[in-house]
Amino acid sequence: MEIQVNPTWEEASRHAADVIVELLRRKPNAVICFATGNTPKLMYRELVRCVREGRVSLADIRAFALDEPGTVSETNVPFFRAFLDEHVYEPGGVQDFQIDSLNPLADDLDAECRRYQAAIREAGGFDLVILGIGLNGHLAYNEPGSTRSSRTRRVQLAPSTSQVTAAYYTGESAFEWGLTVGLADILDAKQLLVLANGESKAAIVQQALEGAVSERVPASFLQEHGAVRWFLDPAAASQLRGKTLS
Ligand code: PGA
Repeated sequence: MEIQVNPTWEEASRHAADVIVELLRRKPNAVICFATGNTPKLMYRELVRCVREGRVSLADIRAFALDEPGTVSETNVPFFRAFLDEHVYEPGGVQDFQIDSLNPLADDLDAECRRYQAAIREAGGFDLVILGIGLNGHLAYNEPGSTRSSRTRRVQLAPSTSQVTAAYYTGESAFEWGLTVGLADILDAKQLLVLANGESKAAIVQQALEGAVSERVPASFLQEHGAVRWFLDPAAASQLRGKTLS
């Protein structure tokens, strides 16, 4: 596990984007699973800048998303897919045939989760998963209580997660459930990139990195993965007791 605390979030985001650039130089057709949320926005902007400057191309990647809330917009667009279209896929030149998303409008949600799981497997699994961390320690929509062996499935969202999800959007949408890749899908990835910034994440970052590995804090399972890189700002790192910092 590598933990980088950068003086500013801009710098952390730039270094995190460099991890993706390095991967794509080694493996242009990497399978990448993208997070939605406020946390990775700056990193995505940096990544798109690298694409525009010709330093890297996303033209051969396979793209998946970590999760998708169960409520769709008035135009029936799944919200997280729309986020990734706006921040990564369209500006980064990723085309539809390269992208897979979880469809919360599917008639049979269990079948949709099985389809997604099979697509991940057929792609060869994730080379890289980009993760934020929830205020309650969730990873993707794997809320506290999710098992280490969980796979892609429908889940109920914790109240804090519903609130955070709703805050991304204007309007009256209520977010009670979602579809998510499982903890096992995430932990099977060859490489993990975890981002956290701001004081509100400090306590959960400390628990995830230095606390007991437990279903109570799904992000604590990251301690068991051999290739995790954390990118933090000083505020998010402010409660680390030093055990993990070199
Ligand atoms: P955030 O959400 O990036 O908007 O903080 C992260 C999460 O809840 O997983």
